Amino acid sequence: MILITGSTGQIGRLVTEHLLNIGVPVRAFVRDEKSFDYLGNSSLEVAVGTFEDKKSIEKAVEGVDRLFLVARDNPNQVAQHDNVIKVAERCGVKHIVKLSAFGASKNSPIFLMRAHAETEEQLRNSKMNWTFLRPQLYMQNLLRFGDSVAENNRFSAPMGANAFALVDIRDVAVVAAKVLKDGDHASKIYTLTGPNAINYTEIAKYLSTILHQSIKYHPVPPEEFYQTLLSEGKPSWRAHDLAYIAEAYPRDRKSLITNDISDLLQRPANSIQTFLSDHQTTFQRKE
Ligand SMILES: NC(=O)c1ccc[n+]([C@@H]2O[C@H](COP(=O)([O-])OP(=O)(O)OC[C@H]3O[C@@H](n4cnc5c(N)ncnc54)[C@H](OP(=O)(O)O)[C@@H]3O)[C@@H](O)[C@H]2O)c1
Repeated sequence: MILITGSTGQIGRLVTEHLLNIGVPVRAFVRDEKSFDYLGNSSLEVAVGTFEDKKSIEKAVEGVDRLFLVARDNPNQVAQHDNVIKVAERCGVKHIVKLSAFGASKNSPIFLMRAHAETEEQLRNSKMNWTFLRPQLYMQNLLRFGDSVAENNRFSAPMGANAFALVDIRDVAVVAAKVLKDGDHASKIYTLTGPNAINYTEIAKYLSTILHQSIKYHPVPPEEFYQTLLSEGKPSWRAHDLAYIAEAYPRDRKSLITNDISDLLQRPANSIQTFLSDHQTTFQRKE
């Protein structure tokens, strides 16, 4: 049995869907059964619980061989994952596939990347097999600019002129489903990126072409972005990560890109043009 944590989230939901579509039975770990779509599918079991509640994790991992470990970034993430790792190891789980992040490092200026590095280390020190999936920034983050583009033909972000090899979460989810289904890939780190490194001015150009109107990117200084998020009530650790995340990526475009998605899936990773075109209605004015 495969246990999917974070199964109501962006990635976990797609991984659950892929595995069910190819007939692989899964158990979904959910906090609230009502927020889950796939009830009624005969290949799906649901285990209700939280990362804080070790008893619920114990019940959820009963008979589980492989586990997909995903959470929402939060200040308690390392402790939450520590609970899952310890219970899973004690209860006989053989392999954990961890959704981590490009740039995971204890020396990163970004909190979430330091947290991922700590959990990776806990897994390396466990007796279980592990695989780390380290996606770069998600293309889906761009969907947040939908209203701004639709209403004002522009979007703002603290990304300067830096390029990123943004990755489509649909690719990340197919890779995760494959790794979980195959059951090998032990001690492998897959760095999941899009096929090209692009900056936000180039993204604005692609959007302009797709939408047939001029869209502009407005770079915001990170400190200004940070202060705005604080004034909107974001906790400082999160405001800092969102404002300064560009600092965590190399400047050299070539070192942003890997072939891991195409090697694993035997097809190219989705391009930004495909992504923007598939989601163009999000950026269009609603009548
Ligand atoms: N955004 C990016 O560009 C990017 C890039 C690389 C890596 N990442 C990494 O991707 C991960 C987030 O993935 P995602 O976007 O799929 O997440 P998401 O959509 O925010 O979903 C998070 C999931 O975790 C569950 N969850 C949260 N707290 C929990 C708890 N205490 N106990 C049990 N379940 C809990 C949520 O359940 P509920 O539905 O009940 O809340 C939800 O299913 C993060 O680790 C992030 O660092 C993000």
